[in-house]
This record gives sequence, structure tokens and C-alpha cells, in this order.
Amino acid sequence: MTGPLRLGVNIDHVATIRNARGVGYPDPVRAGLLAERAGADGITAHLREDRRHITDDDIARLTAALTVPLNFEMAATDEMLGIALRHRPHAACIVPEKREERTTEGGLDAAGQQDRLHDLVAALRDAGIRVSLFIEPDARQIDAALQLGAPVIELHTGLYAECGGDAQAAELRRLTDAAALAAKNGIEVHAGHGLTFDNVAPIAAIPQLAELNIGHFLIGEALFAGLEPSIRHMRALMDAAR
Ligand code: PXP
Repeated sequence: MTGPLRLGVNIDHVATIRNARGVGYPDPVRAGLLAERAGADGITAHLREDRRHITDDDIARLTAALTVPLNFEMAATDEMLGIALRHRPHAACIVPEKREERTTEGGLDAAGQQDRLHDLVAALRDAGIRVSLFIEPDARQIDAALQLGAPVIELHTGLYAECGGDAQAAELRRLTDAAALAAKNGIEVHAGHGLTFDNVAPIAAIPQLAELNIGHFLIGEALFAGLEPSIRHMRALMDAAR
């Protein structure tokens, strides 16, 4: 029996388009409000250290405007911790960040950075922010999340999304096993990265998943079909897979 699966819409790339011109439009807050209307259960925004898309002002405006929960994606730095504590979003997803990368490549090495993450996770948790760790579907990383007391993990689906054939089937098995292991240990399991209309169904069918976070594809699809219809269609595909 599978439970409901929430859809978090990542609106970073609305800001990417805006910032390409250095003007005020399109506004990611407007996109967040439209996404809410289309049935998004939450909005995700990643304030990168280089501010290449979402800005500090966007986070302040999203916090003030949204009625659904904000999932604040952040690197494990003192600066980002300070911003999270100031805005107190519903959730904070800790992601690895490299300045030169095009997007979040690979999961957080929670197992290799336990000492560094310990205080950060505790500070967020103490502030009532639901902490999630963006990790690879790997038992070592799940164990580290448990040690750190993170209530949520988000499994990185990037490799699944990139490959096809046998490699994709093997990655789907890894994701399925990781979701089962984490859920058995009381961790809430989310997933995301690279999900599209074509590849979402097998992921949405993993019974232990509680939430998918999807951005880049939906913002691209919005150019052709509009943001609301694109989100509604993704929602329908997710629901059909449960
Ligand atoms: N989840 C996390 C933790 C991410 O970092 C991202 C990308 O910013 C996503 C989900 C969404 O990935 P995509 O934009 O490829 O749908």
C-alpha cells in the first residue's frame, strides 16, 4: 500500500531566465504562487553561494508570500545556516555545492562529513526546521543520516535520469532499496533531480517515497504548455503511478 506523494516544485530556473537579463522578470515568486494554484504541495528554492539564480530577496519574498511549505536548499556553510535561521523555512535540504558545477552533481557525502554536519543539523533542528540531506542511494549515507538525526533524506535521482537500459534499471533498484532501508529506520524519504514526464513513473511508484522535488523540466515545459498545465500533468503522472 502506497501513501500520498507530495510534489515540490523547484522554481530556481525562473530566476535563471530573469538573471540572464538582470531585470525583474520573470519573477520566481509569481511562479511559486502559480505552482501552488496548480496543486504543488511545496516550493523548493536553492540559494546558491554564487547567487546564480535565486537571490536573498527572493527567499525573503517567497517566505512572505507562499501558503505552502518552503523547502530551502542550502550548502552546509555558516552563511547559509544564518540565512535559514533568519527566515525559518519549513524545511532545509542540505546539498553539496561546487562553484564550477552546472547543477548539483552527486549527493552530499554525509558519511565523510559527519563532524562538520553535526552542529549544522542540530542548529536547524533546534530552530524547528525539518532537515533533509540530499544523498546518493547508498546504505552508508543513510546510516550517516541516522547518526546525524536527520528526519528526512532526499535521494538523488540524477544518475537514474541520465542513463538508460540496464544501467537505469540497476539505478532504480538502488533507489528502491535505499528508500526501503531509510523508511524502515524511520526516515522520511524524498527524491529528485532530472525527473521528467518520461521518467517519473517508476520513481513515483516506489512505495516509501513521500515527496518528489522537480524543477528544470517543468520550467522548460512551461514554455510550451504553460506552468500550471505542466505541473498538473506531472501530478497526474505521479498519482497514476501510486
Ligand atoms: N532536489 C534537489 C536537492 C536539487 O538540488 C534539485 C536541483 O536543484 C532538484 C531536486 C530538482 O532537480 P531538477 O531541477 O533537475 O528537477
